[in-house]
Amino acid sequence: MIFGATGDLAKRKLFPSLYRLFEKGNLSEHFAVIGVARRPLTNDEFQDNVKKSVSTAIDKEDRIEEFSSHFYYHSHDVTDSDSYASLNKLAEQLDSHYQLDGNRIFYLAMAPEFFGTIALHLKEDGLTNVNGFKRLVIEKPFGHNLESAKELNTQLRTAFAEDEIYRIDHYLGKEMVQNIEVIRFANAIFEPLWNNRYIANIQVTSSEVLGVEERGRYYEKSGALRDMVQNHMLQMVALLAMEPPIRLNTDEIRSEKVKVLRALRPISGEEVKDYFVRGQYDSGSITSESAPAYREEQMVEPDSNTETYVAGKLLIDNFRWAGVPIYIRTGKRMAAKSTKIVIQFKDIPMNLYYQTEQTLNPNLLVIHIQPEEGITLHLNAKKAGQSMEATPVKLNFANKGIDGINTPEAYEKLLYDCMRGDATNFTHWDEVALSWSFTDKISEVWESTVEKNFPNYASGTMGPKAADELLEKDGYFWWPVTDLDVEKC
Ligand code: BG6
Repeated sequence: MIFGATGDLAKRKLFPSLYRLFEKGNLSEHFAVIGVARRPLTNDEFQDNVKKSVSTAIDKEDRIEEFSSHFYYHSHDVTDSDSYASLNKLAEQLDSHYQLDGNRIFYLAMAPEFFGTIALHLKEDGLTNVNGFKRLVIEKPFGHNLESAKELNTQLRTAFAEDEIYRIDHYLGKEMVQNIEVIRFANAIFEPLWNNRYIANIQVTSSEVLGVEERGRYYEKSGALRDMVQNHMLQMVALLAMEPPIRLNTDEIRSEKVKVLRALRPISGEEVKDYFVRGQYDSGSITSESAPAYREEQMVEPDSNTETYVAGKLLIDNFRWAGVPIYIRTGKRMAAKSTKIVIQFKDIPMNLYYQTEQTLNPNLLVIHIQPEEGITLHLNAKKAGQSMEATPVKLNFANKGIDGINTPEAYEKLLYDCMRGDATNFTHWDEVALSWSFTDKISEVWESTVEKNFPNYASGTMGPKAADELLEKDGYFWWPVTDLDVEKC
């Protein structure tokens, strides 16, 4: 059952992803989807919507008629028990028609203020009383801070056990985010170097070209810290920094990620300005088109104090990482849409090539998350010719280039995992809580002080100057994401 079935997420991501799973044979014929939303629609109208959304996203849709015949619609009032009773009746009929063994997944693709109400009704009105499995899938934001997240969690837990709750962080469904673990733990050459003896710093960038678009109302209350750092950025950091799990199962991986989040040094009060930089975009130009300032966007206050950019320096206080800064930055209206991780290794103990007055480039391992997917290892090698000069070279693995296939979309993978009952790539409550307690301390400071310099970066740039200074203080600089493109290697 997809609650919010007429919404944007259902249309853009969920229907096309389900179709891809169907086409690949990963959905058996024993499935039915009930679209649940407020507005009145017939099954035919709903199926037409599904077809449209699939054909917008996918070129080849030979089996669209067969696929969409599995979709049903229920016009619903989330606060009304009678609505849930008729929804349950429809679900029971479909259960026996498609032989679903009483298995139910409830996907809440809608405004989070209703999550608690829906979960309570699902339980009280008997929808979770099934013979098979019951699972709840929810989208972020999972609360607004630790306190509200706890409240929400308590409401959800009255109807679902922790292992029945699948909290989506769509970054965890990205091919190359999942690859972090394989790169680290399936290669003998990296793990021995993966620590403060050999790594100088790590840089995680997730930059976007788009602005807030139509999401001004949500974003005003969220800002980049809650929207990206509390979840996606900290999840990537946890995967990069965790210890090797004893087994590759959900509990073991989560427990290692949780340890990283627990070791994250809390930054609060006066320290925030030394470790974190906030930015807000001004007008500017994106691919030679002019773009408005954040404060001119729809539903945004003309004197908004909301950050559309965050850069931060994280420290993980454990044996492996003591002293290694992990820099993160994310923002809207930046120069490029790019998510990359750069692991910068320490300099060699002495430079034998000093006679040529050459400074050697440090070794870098770059993990390209998106838009291109791959890995690049930056080394130094001999320049061809008579001299013994060293020159930078790159070993390059382009994921798509090699297999020639499109890697599955994040949502496709995550929906499939949920159906199979694999919660590894979903966020556990402990991770959510620890992440909020880290970012809450920063939000507290930012919300209580008006940033007088806003707006402080032009649209189409890589963020405010202060973000560069954050690294310069430590003797580093941001590796420019556009120069590191896998395609350019
Ligand atoms: C979402 C944020 O979680 O992630 C958006 O709410 C952001 O503001 C998006 O644009 C970025 O996702 P991706 O997959 O495009 O990097």
